[in-house]
Amino acid sequence: MDSSVEIRVLTTPQELFAAAAEAIAQLAMEAVAERGRFTLALSGGSTPKSLYTLLATNARTSLPWDRMFFFWGDERHVPPNHPDSNYRMVNEAMLSKVPVPVENVFRIKAENRDAASAAQEYEQTLRKFFQQESGIPNFDLILLGMGPDGHTASLFPGTAALQERSRLVVANWVEKLKTNRLTFTLPVLNAARCVIFLVSGIDKAAVLKTVLEDDVPGEQYPAKLVRPSAGKLIWMLDRAAASALSIQSR
Ligand code: 6PG
Repeated sequence: MDSSVEIRVLTTPQELFAAAAEAIAQLAMEAVAERGRFTLALSGGSTPKSLYTLLATNARTSLPWDRMFFFWGDERHVPPNHPDSNYRMVNEAMLSKVPVPVENVFRIKAENRDAASAAQEYEQTLRKFFQQESGIPNFDLILLGMGPDGHTASLFPGTAALQERSRLVVANWVEKLKTNRLTFTLPVLNAARCVIFLVSGIDKAAVLKTVLEDDVPGEQYPAKLVRPSAGKLIWMLDRAAASALSIQSR
């Protein structure tokens, strides 16, 4: 295991979410102190919901919400009020409960019928925010999850988005789900100052061992392709998710 990769194993999901909230708070304070703002891209799915709820309750008064700028690393191709919407999940769990200015929240407008134009629009949103008409923006933090098939964001095994090296955001057809997803591309993930994978539960144990310890093609396990070129990579796990790893670091 590369020494630039940190693996933190917490005993329970509750301890995992508390540690993740603490790590995010620390990164936020450092970013605001150094650059006056904290830019973070959030992951969807079910795992991070408890983390978002924790941030909205325990950190409601301690985080510099007005200096925090929220993006999404991926989104389903649905309207913002759809049950599958990552925006809806984050808004309900956290953003609607904290004093973050509405202008600091940049959701992916995935309700557009044409996923490609929604992706293009979000790419322009990123370029305008980071004032970068070219090149790859550096998020302070990108929070990621991982599916049982080793996908992360909406970079699924064998999908076209894995090949993208210049676009920031693309529409990605996921055959097994029979749907388009909108996703950051690998260059954006790997340009982050810090990437935190948050992985919980026994159902992720086998794929986590494969991704972290086995010599397998990244194409088949896209989470393996996330290696920030200059940033930190932190895997935050609970003991159940880490139970198949040969190393049990804390
Ligand atoms: C999404 C996420 C996705 C998620 C994994 C893990 O839109 O679903 O961005 O990459 O992180 O699928 O999901 P769970 O946390 O629900 O297992």
